[in-house]
Amino acid sequence: KSIASVDIKGKQFVTDDYTNITPKIVSYLGKNLHMQKHNPLSIVRQRIVNYFYSSFTQRGNPAFSVYDNLCPIVTTKQNFDDLLIPSDHPSRAKSDCYYINRGTLLRAHMTAHQSELLRSGLDNFLMIGDVYRRDEIDSTHFPVFHQVDGVRSQRKDELFPGQPDLEIFEANYDQKNPHTFINSIKDPMKQSCHTLEATKLMETQLKTHLIALTKVLFGETIKYRWVEEYFPFTHPSWELEIFFDNKWMEILGCGIVRNEILVSAGPTNSIAYAFGLGLERLAMALYKIPDIRLMWSTDSGFLTQFENVNLNERITYKPVSSYPQCTNDMSFWLPENLTIDTFVNNDFYDLVRDIGGDIIEQVRLKDKFVHPKTKKHSLCYSIVYRHLERTLTQAEVNQVHKTIEKAVVDTFGVAIR
Ligand code: PHE
Repeated sequence: KSIASVDIKGKQFVTDDYTNITPKIVSYLGKNLHMQKHNPLSIVRQRIVNYFYSSFTQRGNPAFSVYDNLCPIVTTKQNFDDLLIPSDHPSRAKSDCYYINRGTLLRAHMTAHQSELLRSGLDNFLMIGDVYRRDEIDSTHFPVFHQVDGVRSQRKDELFPGQPDLEIFEANYDQKNPHTFINSIKDPMKQSCHTLEATKLMETQLKTHLIALTKVLFGETIKYRWVEEYFPFTHPSWELEIFFDNKWMEILGCGIVRNEILVSAGPTNSIAYAFGLGLERLAMALYKIPDIRLMWSTDSGFLTQFENVNLNERITYKPVSSYPQCTNDMSFWLPENLTIDTFVNNDFYDLVRDIGGDIIEQVRLKDKFVHPKTKKHSLCYSIVYRHLERTLTQAEVNQVHKTIEKAVVDTFGVAIR
């Protein structure tokens, strides 16, 4: 009996009941938009890296090392287990991640590399790359986006220079036998192993640097606020929101790294903070880019606007021109084994994108309906089509729409109404 497998970038992977990666998604691997010279994501990446290079130096050399070429194919251990993400946590769901098989997926965040880099002995580092999440389809969501993650760890002598009586750890925590200590996160202020002094100083440094970075990017007058958050791998944790375009927008998550993660990766005498920023959000806001799909544009009308620019120059994207949208609805009856509550929206979205490609601008669930007599379940979706670089004809859209309908019938066993 032969074992089913897929080829991804020349490597063979066994497939199983978790496999949900599609050829369309595989085609994004290796595009590395964050490294493309004239891509707005690359400009934001360089500005962030420059901030960390210039703000932290040791004897004139940058203290942060930068990893921007790590392979996006990771294990569930890297993406979840090493980060203390519980086995029943919703972020592991098949409906939210692109799995290659039960043990392997496309990383859902850059934090997936945190433990391995700590284990290799690094103390200050940035991890930059493409991450993959199944999500809805609209102008701000795309299944691939880019993140900059960072870690800064310090020993007692670095955190409290010249203050030998200040400690990172509480007296009942034994650095030689860290496994004998049960590290609680019940106190909202700090982890039980850490002193309040060490936690507060790290919190201040973390917040000060992230605000300084935000001001470098958006200008001195940017309005911001900190929001308490929860991440399984940090405690305490926060999100930073900026006031932009008349609304609060989340731009990063951060916190004090859980001591268990440091201990299993190596350092038992340090405290660390970590953060993760989304590059698309920042680039779209900074340059007023209205649609996330434009990041993937190879059109010279787009890319030349970001060519040969001074990194800190104020650039406002000028739409090359705006082509019209075309909206078609799709209604169908679900087969007996599915209900309007068990049908997985993200499965539908992936199929629509697989067939329609990048002319799909948005997919909206328009209506849910249970027939009062037959008890049959029905769904209606609106699909908005728009090409970024030319006008689509209604006939052309109808043809794509028909092809999607056929695939939806074949894949989910629905009946088009
Ligand atoms: N990985 C988190 C996310 O993707 C961001 C984060 C990174 C939060 C590091 C805390 C520390 O949302």
